Amino acid sequence: MTAKDLIHSKRVEPSILSADYERLGEQIGRVMDAGARVIHVDVMDGHFVPPITIGPVIVESIREQVHGAGGAIDCHLMIERPERQVEQFAKAGADSIIVQYESTPNVHFALGAVHEAGCLAGLAINPATPVECAMEVLGIVDYVLCMTVNPGWGGQAYIPTSNDKVKRLRELVGPELPIQVDGGISTDTAGGAAAAGATLFVAGSAVFGSDDPAAAYRAIAESAGA
Ligand code: DX5
Ligand code: ZN
Repeated sequence: MTAKDLIHSKRVEPSILSADYERLGEQIGRVMDAGARVIHVDVMDGHFVPPITIGPVIVESIREQVHGAGGAIDCHLMIERPERQVEQFAKAGADSIIVQYESTPNVHFALGAVHEAGCLAGLAINPATPVECAMEVLGIVDYVLCMTVNPGWGGQAYIPTSNDKVKRLRELVGPELPIQVDGGISTDTAGGAAAAGATLFVAGSAVFGSDDPAAAYRAIAESAGA
């Protein structure tokens, strides 16, 4: 399956933000053995959001394993002026790159830079950002990420009004465009997000915070109908 096929199918994406970095390869192996094919990488710069997390060197270090198992790497850039960094992530092995609507005055340009670098382009909108913001770039995005927590940290609670927001986004973009949800996704919340129209479910702490990430992955996938 190509990265495009993967993004267009209903699936749970484990986020390595909550993984144990001492044994990152082993943890990725577990969820991929359980069926995961898209690994979500949360990039934070200490400016757009307070924490600093993963950079291109980590993407580079997992590329062989993920691609070797037929998977794709989805990089979620929570950084200011992402247009200046997309090429680095593409070169490191990203298959898809998500740009936050709020992170640059040049969203259209940034999404173009993602395509230019050979990756699929995702647009993320924060909880307070209206769904209509996606409209002007609909023709050039491969998927839209509706943030279901405020970006910056794993382990936060799903914002309850998110289902209504996903529903409005689905009505706006039509049935084909993949809608991703990210933040607070678990067996408790995945079903509601799926019913609202989400197709890609990012889960960090619910997967890697569990004693058995493979079983946790499968349980969330089942709740999501993925
Ligand atoms: C939050 C990140 C998420 C994070 C989700 O800023 O974008 O991808 O890993 O973590 P959980 O699933 O623990 O809410
Ligand atoms: Zn994310």
